[in-house]
This record gives sequence, structure tokens and C-alpha cells, in this order.
Amino acid sequence: MSYTLLSSPLQGFTDFRFRKAFNHFFGGIDTFYSPYIRLNGKLKIKQSYQNDLMLENNTTLEVIPQIITNDPDEFIFVAKYVRDLGYTELNWNLGCPYPMVTKSGMGSGLICNPSRIDEVLHKAHNETDILVSMKMRMGYENAQEILEAFPILDNYPLKNIAIHARIGKQLYKGPVDLDAFEKCIDSTKHKLYYNGDITSVESFIAIKERFPKIDHFMIGRGLIADPFLPQMIKNNTSTYPEDRWSIFSEFHDTIYKDYDEYLSGPTPIKMKMLGFWEFFSQSTSNPQKTYKAIKKASNPVKYKQAVAQIINAEMRR
Ligand SMILES: Cc1cc2nc3c(=O)[nH]c(=O)nc-3n(C[C@H](O)[C@H](O)[C@H](O)COP(=O)(O)O)c2cc1C
Repeated sequence: MSYTLLSSPLQGFTDFRFRKAFNHFFGGIDTFYSPYIRLNGKLKIKQSYQNDLMLENNTTLEVIPQIITNDPDEFIFVAKYVRDLGYTELNWNLGCPYPMVTKSGMGSGLICNPSRIDEVLHKAHNETDILVSMKMRMGYENAQEILEAFPILDNYPLKNIAIHARIGKQLYKGPVDLDAFEKCIDSTKHKLYYNGDITSVESFIAIKERFPKIDHFMIGRGLIADPFLPQMIKNNTSTYPEDRWSIFSEFHDTIYKDYDEYLSGPTPIKMKMLGFWEFFSQSTSNPQKTYKAIKKASNPVKYKQAVAQIINAEMRR
């Protein structure tokens, strides 16, 4: 059975610069979600969100914009904004687990509030023609919450519901709950996408075999840790291309250059790349040593030397 691979968004990582370079050097992803737009009480879209969604910054790939909110007016405002840009779909985030978000009744903190979900969806479907899709966890406190939200969700023509098979209170710890995800499949009329801990070709195959009815899979952290993963899944192989590290090196240099041009000064670019290396290091032969070497590099020259050393060592292996 054919299937679709989607890039699950990571705020601070998978912006248009990353997506473009990723798609150019690796591929394997059919559709990318943008990290969420969050309005902070004002009906105004920050410049960085605008840049992320501008069509000219996303010419080579398909993007679906995302919003996080619990306010019907904010939803409508952002829906109209993305509609005007030419997008036809808006993804609604009910997954974010961070206390700053959940305590104000957003992200996974909204799953337990079906009447508010109803208000937002009602207005969205009455006042815009945007196609709405959802990205959810299974609850904040427990995985029962989503089951209680489904009867409301089933009243709307949602495109799909992507489920990260954890609850909010877990943050990113502990295993995904595949039994609870299975229950979701039988409890809604909507099409479900699977998300959570696809980090290798083997883990993808295991999920696919466990859920034969699912044909859309989202990969978040696994794609940054190993950018070859989506293409290897598509090719059904665990073998890397022979020029693995030279491709990675070109990719690295491309995003480094793009972020360096955008961020001002050595500290912001260092912090940005260090964030990426938390993930990249995981697919090197000694993750801790790799990360430490990057962390220690105290200026751009030393950083570039550290990267070259890491890549040369991997090439020689
Ligand atoms: C740093 C970070 C930022 C994230 N930002 C977003 C976001 O903006 N929107 C969203 O839907 N999910 C966000 N997520 C969640 C991921 O998209 C994904 O659902 C989650 O990591 C589970 O999938 P994975 O195991 O494949 O990473 C974020 C996760 C992390 C770790």
C-alpha cells in the first residue's frame, strides 16, 4: 500500500530555510507543516511567521500552515491570512505540551475542553472556506480526553487528525502509547495520521505493520537527527548513500550560511547550530563527543574546524 510521509513541525528548527535545504539535499517528504503561528493577544502576524509562509520562500515544496489558539477570532484571522497567501488548509495544534501554552488552555491543554473546540470549529466553518486539519496529542492528563472530543470533531468536515501518540503531561518522555492510538482509530470517522518516535526504517515498518489502516505518517525529531531517514523509508533500505557525509556536509553548510545571513553576530548562529547539533549528533558514531566538540567551539572559525573534523572522522569510518 502506498503511503505519505509528512514533516512534523519543530518550532525553531523546521522553518523555510531548513525545509528548502532539507528538500533539496535529502527529499522523501511529501508535505511539510510549518511551525505554529501564535498570536499574542493581537490580531497581527509577526514578520518571522510571514517570512516562513511567503510563497516565494516555499517554491520547491508543499507546506501546510499551522496555528495554535483557543480563540475563534484568532483562528478566523489567521485562516483569512493564509487563504490570501494562497493556502487552502490550516492545521490546528492541540498537541503542544509546554506549561506556558497548556496553562492558558491551548495546545494539549485544550483537548479536555470540547465545547471550546466546538466554538472555534463552528466559527471556522461558518466564516471561512479554509480546510481544517488537526494535530493533537491524546489528552493532557490521560488518553481518554481525545475520545471525549471525537464526537464534536466528528461533526465537522476536517481533512484529517494527526495524532502524536502521547499525552501532554509526558512532554517528550516515556514511550508512545500505541494501544491508546489504536483505540482512536475505532473511535472517530476522521482519517488519522500517525506521529511519534519514527526514528529509523525499522521503527517505521513496525508502526506501519501494527496499523495497516494508517497511510499517513509524520516524522519530527527523527528527520533532523537523520535527514536521510525519509528517503531511506521511501526506498525501503537501511543503507546510506555512499556519499552520505559529503551530502550532509553540503546541507550543513547551506543552512549555516542561510542562518548566518539572517541572524546577526556569532552568538545567535552558534546557538542556532548547537540546537541542530543536539539532533545531528545522534546519527554520528559518538553523539556525546560530537555534541561536546561543537559546544566547545568558541568562535565561527573553531566551529567550522569542529564540523570538518566530525565529518572527516565519520567519512573515514
Ligand atoms: C523543539 C520542538 C518544537 C516543536 N514545535 C512544534 C510545532 O510548532 N508544532 C507542532 O505541531 N509540533 C511541534 N513539535 C512536536 C513535533 O512536531 C512532533 O509532534 C513530536 O516531536 C513527536 O514526533 P517525533 O517523535 O517524530 O518527533 C515540536 C517538538 C519539539 C521537540
